Amino acid sequence: MGPEMQEVGIVVDAGVLCSGGKIAWVGSMSEWDQVLPEGFPEIDAAGKVVVPGFVDSHTHMMFAGHRGREFVLRSQGATYQQIAGAGGGILSTIKDVRAASKRDLKRQTARYLGDMMRHGTTTVEIKSGYGLDLNSEIKMIEAIHELEREEMMTVVSTFMGAHAVPPEYAHSRAAYVDLVVGEMIPYVGRKKLASFCDVFCEAGYFGLEDSERILIRGKEAGLQPKIHAEELNPLGGAQLAAKVGAVSADHLEHVSDEGIAALKESGVIATVLPGVSFFLNHGYAPARKLIDRGVPVAIASDFNPGSCMSFSLPMMMTIACTHMRMTPAEALTAVTLNGAAALNMSSSVGSIEVGKKADLLVADVSDYTFLSYHFGVNHIVTTIKNGTILE
Ligand code: NIG
Ligand code: FE
Repeated sequence: MGPEMQEVGIVVDAGVLCSGGKIAWVGSMSEWDQVLPEGFPEIDAAGKVVVPGFVDSHTHMMFAGHRGREFVLRSQGATYQQIAGAGGGILSTIKDVRAASKRDLKRQTARYLGDMMRHGTTTVEIKSGYGLDLNSEIKMIEAIHELEREEMMTVVSTFMGAHAVPPEYAHSRAAYVDLVVGEMIPYVGRKKLASFCDVFCEAGYFGLEDSERILIRGKEAGLQPKIHAEELNPLGGAQLAAKVGAVSADHLEHVSDEGIAALKESGVIATVLPGVSFFLNHGYAPARKLIDRGVPVAIASDFNPGSCMSFSLPMMMTIACTHMRMTPAEALTAVTLNGAAALNMSSSVGSIEVGKKADLLVADVSDYTFLSYHFGVNHIVTTIKNGTILE
């Protein structure tokens, strides 16, 4: 799954038939006339490229307010950690999310979901974690769960009550962990509001022991583990991901060789977030090394108001190619099939195969490498979601 990322399986002159929201047939255009049922709408993609809908397996895209002022400060040299230390960062978004209604959170997120589909994303994971008290976390995770049912986009919800320690608990981190483990996770699990449980395993946020406790409790409540690991410091989060059987370990800017070996051994997907490294200018995860050592790598946006204010997966692909030594083929695999694997969804999305969801993109490019090479513009001219053409 590492080296195989290079194989994208290009078919020239191919046709794809969608029926009942699924891919029903994939073959040569020479057989098209025999296969196409009468009266079926057709899209002529001659001279263009058709790829699977992108899977963004890591976002914090439900938020209120913005952090434009922090961006200005960073442009003048302040670091993400300095801003967080002065009460900005995640904590500033928490204030805004606590004050927002569920309806407003859903409305802003739904608007972004539409924009993302036009840029090629057809499956997206969304984390809670900007509420950080019982009611606000429930508000967020319910809002995400409702979007799952109401929106055209396939939405996957992740509970992340352990995103930061809220100000009320600044001097009693252990009590906050007790709240996450004792009340939040059981509620989310009982009401089946999320598929995954995530934790920010990082110095100053949640250490290895707290992270393990949270992820194990999540597992017991039916939430599969994911982890923010080795973003700002090498802590051993990758090894913890292997230990608890996480579906993915995300960030990994500072992952050690032992961490890489642990990921490889246990089959954890390494999700890299090129947009964060680019936006915070803090160094890149060793994607080349991960792939060469046989670890499957997914690329996600991490779309959030602080560390990556972009949901463009093609932009992330370009950064992965220019700064992380991934090839355009690997980058495409990383935002499709491996993104799907990072959500345990590779049997239903992530590639153009019979039986999978009919999530397809038509890109006005002559070759798939242009998705990474020609950057900063949207090449997607048609998004097909569950067999429906997005207007
Ligand atoms: O993945 N690392 C933790 N959380 C986010 C940042 C969220 C924020 O700054 O609001 C991340 O980079
Ligand atoms: Fe994140």
